[in-house]
Amino acid sequence: MSELEGKRVFVTGSGAGIGKAIATLFTQRGARVVVSDINADAAKQTADEIGAAGVANCDVTDEAQVQAAVQQAVDLLGGLDVLVNNAGIEVSSPLLQQSTESFDKIYAVNVRGPFVAMKAAIGHLIESKGNVVNISSIAGIGGSPLLGSYCATKAALIQMTRVAAVEMRPTGVRVNAVCPGFADTAMVDRLVPDFEAATQVPFGDLVAMKQGRLGTPEDIAEVAAFLASDRASWVTGSHYVLDGGLTASLV
Ligand SMILES: NC(=O)c1ccc[n+]([C@@H]2O[C@H](COP(=O)([O-])OP(=O)(O)OC[C@H]3O[C@@H](n4cnc5c(N)ncnc54)[C@H](O)[C@@H]3O)[C@@H](O)[C@H]2O)c1
Repeated sequence: MSELEGKRVFVTGSGAGIGKAIATLFTQRGARVVVSDINADAAKQTADEIGAAGVANCDVTDEAQVQAAVQQAVDLLGGLDVLVNNAGIEVSSPLLQQSTESFDKIYAVNVRGPFVAMKAAIGHLIESKGNVVNISSIAGIGGSPLLGSYCATKAALIQMTRVAAVEMRPTGVRVNAVCPGFADTAMVDRLVPDFEAATQVPFGDLVAMKQGRLGTPEDIAEVAAFLASDRASWVTGSHYVLDGGLTASLV
């Protein structure tokens, strides 16, 4: 039997990048996945490509939309076993030069989004003794120039993961996070010019030195699949780092 056979899964931000890789791998491993994105065309394309169980789009900053999309997913799937909070955005700016509006926006997507999605899903997850996988980042563990607000949001997501896991333990619902290093997606493509300008080091050299190579969205999907599966039945409140050793190294 495949690792995720029959699991009913909702993935935010799964029109592209890591979310798309998660939706794809989970489907290959036997899950029935409802794809969701703020970009309806991208979500439809992912769903068509992978043969998803359906599409239920939302902008994760809009609580009513998130509640409606979770309900739509539950209706399509007949319940819910796994919520993957993947939707996220980056802002590249020196922290104290960032506008307050932009700070509020990244919090709304990266922290409030997973919060409202977990609230919308929790009743269904309690029913199925399901689990949540939150896509955080190594930026939630260490600081990085130009990513101040992003780092703050990803640290907040690790802490929400821990507290939700502890509070939900008596219900059988598990909550975990994944903390990737730099991975090959449009998000990183957008960050490269600013990073190179700030560090005066070619990004490829930085990645080769610190991570060995760029992560792939599939690297991250593999860990998410493990956490979502019954093989991880004693894993909760954890954050799994996958970064080619970047955070392990002092030099
Ligand atoms: N790429 C990396 O190196 C990396 C590293 C660590 C963590 N992450 C995290 O992984 C997650 C996915 O990142 P990615 O690199 O695939 O990014 P991406 O920009 O390539 O894709 C993000 C997807 O989320 C969608 N999205 C954006 N705002 C949304 C909103 N308000 N509501 C719903 N959907 C929305 C986008 O339309 C897009 O399809 C993010 O949470 C990101 O912070 C990425």
